[in-house]
Amino acid sequence: MKRYLLGETPGIDSWQMEDVPAPVLGAGEVRVEMRAWSLNHRDLMVAEGTYGGKRQPGLVPLSDGSGVVAEVGSGVTELQVGDRVATCFFRDWHEGDLTALKAKAARGGAIDGILSEQIVAPANSLVKAPSNLSFAEAATLPCAALTAWNALFDASQLKAGETVLVQGTGGVSIFALQLAKVAGARVIVTSSSDAKLSHAADLGADEGINYRDNPDWERAAFDLTRGIGVDLVLEVGGTDTLPRSMKAVRHAGRISIIGVLTGGQVQFPVGYVFSKNIRMTGIYVGSRSQFMAMNRAIEQADLHPVIDREFAFASAPLALKYMQAAEHVGKIVIVR
Ligand SMILES: NC(=O)c1ccc[n+]([C@@H]2O[C@H](COP(=O)([O-])OP(=O)(O)OC[C@H]3O[C@@H](n4cnc5c(N)ncnc54)[C@H](OP(=O)(O)O)[C@@H]3O)[C@@H](O)[C@H]2O)c1
Repeated sequence: MKRYLLGETPGIDSWQMEDVPAPVLGAGEVRVEMRAWSLNHRDLMVAEGTYGGKRQPGLVPLSDGSGVVAEVGSGVTELQVGDRVATCFFRDWHEGDLTALKAKAARGGAIDGILSEQIVAPANSLVKAPSNLSFAEAATLPCAALTAWNALFDASQLKAGETVLVQGTGGVSIFALQLAKVAGARVIVTSSSDAKLSHAADLGADEGINYRDNPDWERAAFDLTRGIGVDLVLEVGGTDTLPRSMKAVRHAGRISIIGVLTGGQVQFPVGYVFSKNIRMTGIYVGSRSQFMAMNRAIEQADLHPVIDREFAFASAPLALKYMQAAEHVGKIVIVR
């Protein structure tokens, strides 16, 4: 079977295809014939060697994918041959709080990922794919969708009628827009592009702010909330955005801290945190049980992920280049 691995030299061209024997199946494991994969910003950083931890040449990239169960090992009861499944970002975070041990087994980062024609994985590191989704759609869920779900509902307890601000139109933020609309929230989207804001409006965004034209976008967010501030910000920017998010949020509002697209070192006015009673919560994707809860909501709402472009498995490195170009809205997918 064919799979990709990270080559020795860091960079955008570092995914290399190789031919290897199919993996051996063990007790408690299933063999999955993979059908689709999706990319996250992290996969770019892992290839370039800018993601936390030491870059590991030989690592199989990607955390997110979907496929069909082709073989079941002894002791597996919850999955059968023919089931459609998606991979969990964390192999070992099944439920409850994140621990140092559970955080160690992050696919496509600390441990091998899944950009392979076949994988063998513990049955409890997979979930059944939502029945309303195609393989390509289901492959988009494990990291970006679950992060958005956790950031909105579990960590920050979003309520109907509240106002959420999401930054940019990438994978996490577009899922956050879609999920927040299903929950009856008002959504403000920021973007560098009017065309992307128009796309976000088509997906249900109530307001858009172009952060290139309005570098002080937090003021615009304040104006859009009659000088009160937004209830919740999903923070994916880091250095350039977190201090502004703290201004954009209302007193006793929440910020879910997710990403560092503009850098991870932040100078911010600590006084804002206590004087405004801001609640800031760090998000690291989510557990398998959160994934299953999200999938129930996706089926119930018949929500369909936004796929910007699909690439063939044989051309997977082109998908990474497309992500680097940052022209996408929503998710970039690889299919087979
Ligand atoms: N903590 C976690 O568990 C977790 C999980 C998933 C992702 N992340 C992190 O979250 C971030 C987003 O990931 P992703 O996979 O969704 O990325 P992505 O699909 O590559 O999206 C990137 C988008 O972010 C927007 N952006 C860039 N700079 C911005 C700025 N200064 N202000 C507002 N928006 C900006 C751009 O949108 P426009 O083109 O519209 O401007 C860009 O297209 C990354 O830092 C990633 O590592 C963290």
